[in-house]
Amino acid sequence: MKLGKSLYASVLLILCMTSSAHGGNILVWYTEASHWINMKPVLDTLINRGHQVTVLTPSVSMFMKTNESSRFRYEPFNVSFSLEAIEAYMEDFLHFSMYEMDQMNYLQIYIRFMEIMKTEFFFSLGYLDGVLKSDTVMKKLKEGKYDLLLADPLYPGSDLTAEILDIPLIFSLRFSLANNWERLCGQLPAPPSFVPAAMSKLTDKMNFSERVWNLLFYALQDIVLEKTFWKELDEYYSEVKGTPTSACEMMSRADIWLMRTYWDFDFPHPFLPNFKFVGGIHCRPAKPLPEDMEEFVQSSGDNGVVVFTLGSMINNITTEKANMIASALAQIPQKVLWRYRGEEPETLGANTRIYNWIPQNDLLGHPKTKAFITHGGTNGIYEAIYHGVPMVGIPMFGDQPDNMVHMKSKGAAVILDFTSMKTEDLRDAVNTVINEKSYKENAMRLSSIHRDRPMSPLDEAVFWIEFTMRNKGAKHLRVQAHELTWYQYHSLDVLGFIITVVLLLILLFMKTCRFCFRMCCRRRGKKKAE
Ligand SMILES: *[C@@H]1O[C@H](CO)[C@@H](O)[C@H](O)[C@H]1NC(C)=O
Ligand SMILES: *[C@@H]1O[C@H](CO)[C@@H](O)[C@H](O)[C@H]1NC(C)=O
Ligand SMILES: *[C@@H]1O[C@H](CO)[C@@H](O)[C@H](O)[C@H]1NC(C)=O
Ligand SMILES: *[C@@H]1O[C@H](CO)[C@@H](O)[C@H](O)[C@H]1NC(C)=O
Repeated sequence: MKLGKSLYASVLLILCMTSSAHGGNILVWYTEASHWINMKPVLDTLINRGHQVTVLTPSVSMFMKTNESSRFRYEPFNVSFSLEAIEAYMEDFLHFSMYEMDQMNYLQIYIRFMEIMKTEFFFSLGYLDGVLKSDTVMKKLKEGKYDLLLADPLYPGSDLTAEILDIPLIFSLRFSLANNWERLCGQLPAPPSFVPAAMSKLTDKMNFSERVWNLLFYALQDIVLEKTFWKELDEYYSEVKGTPTSACEMMSRADIWLMRTYWDFDFPHPFLPNFKFVGGIHCRPAKPLPEDMEEFVQSSGDNGVVVFTLGSMINNITTEKANMIASALAQIPQKVLWRYRGEEPETLGANTRIYNWIPQNDLLGHPKTKAFITHGGTNGIYEAIYHGVPMVGIPMFGDQPDNMVHMKSKGAAVILDFTSMKTEDLRDAVNTVINEKSYKENAMRLSSIHRDRPMSPLDEAVFWIEFTMRNKGAKHLRVQAHELTWYQYHSLDVLGFIITVVLLLILLFMKTCRFCFRMCCRRRGKKKAE
């Protein structure tokens, strides 16, 4: 009895000790919008597994609220601009993407894009100032004894902070312009002959002219980024560190890159051992809908429902567009659930209901859901893939046009152009993806590929985060390419050397031949003379 009790106590003690030994201390870099939505399930799981999660949170943010959940610890920092300034910038950016871009020529788009990049950069550095240039915050971070920094590199500075704190770094990334960060800083190979550049709207099957365009697209975006993003970030990093510093080299110190795509969505392409593809982290089985919503969905009968949202960033559209969309939706036999915060359109049909917010994942997983009308954000697309729902894409900005091109090329979506689409285009597109069997079949095939893997994407992300903490980094996965110059990487120096040697040998051979020939001739000449 006594022995039993002490055995019990020692088992408990060992359990306590192991659980505390496994509990890591994780610092999370600030993010926004869909990036934050995507990060949260990982953080929740890490907390469930006994880790402590601390989130760096700016005093001004559209999506991160320090009062939101008591499960994370928040490490607040101050920024010097207002929420109104950020919202005005976002409004401006969306307006450019949705309404202006199609009326502009390339030069105008370029100039406007540069302006937007400049503003974006102003805010990025403003956030970074709040962390790196605040003695209070940096002191707290140093005292925090963190085991790991988890960051979305879209919000720059995490790499420099990880170096200052001397802790491993894990990136979670969807994409960068021209795959620039993962390609140049992460050394992820991207041959332009079959890996389409981000924003190019190309697939992996390219004819000659498309390959020309793709190569130029990589080069042009690289130049633009070099002149704007990298130049300024290098200066900023150099100033903070006090020595000339390359921001790309800083980025290259990431131990693991968690890419938020997978082969259900992406085209097959080469990758490296420290790149893990975890697209669909937030997908989960559907939960029951709120009662009134379930009632509405059930009232659709055999026709089923269509789910429609333009994402977390776009809350209203012009009255004209809203009316056009509403009258298209009024013409389909399905019932429609539309997430929309603008004014109710006059042409709204009896089959359409507008909601401030919808439980998107639960709706997409509902057996009555026939189609998803989406702006093409990766989060929404992944939920549709997970539940096998065909899509109608109305892409707006960033990676959205590319995302929809991926889904279209896999036969699970139809793409519409927001600027030029008419009522009948939207109506016909919805009818097509619902009535033509191939769309549903392809969506189900993607769903099956997505689910049939050794580990769920969430588990895989969590595994690599824990792995990196247990092993104090993952430098053993780092390719030596990081240490090479561009001409060494492409073996141009070696090729140059070999070509020189071969040329020298040929030259030597020719010289010898000529010499022998001459000797022969001379001898024969002598003989003749004799
Ligand atoms: C958090 O604060 C915001 C305003 O800063 C408020 O609108 C929101 O209701 C608060 N949320 C909770 C859960 O208290
Ligand atoms: C942020 O500003 C507030 C008010 O000015 C101040 O009380 C607080 O200590 C600041 N926080 C940090 C982390 O510097
Ligand atoms: C290549 O493909 C594009 C898009 O499908 C097409 O417009 C173009 O004519 C093709 N070019 C050649 C040379 O086949
Ligand atoms: C969206 O709504 C805001 C105010 O609610 C308004 O200022 C803005 O012009 C609207 N945008 C569009 C595109 O209608």
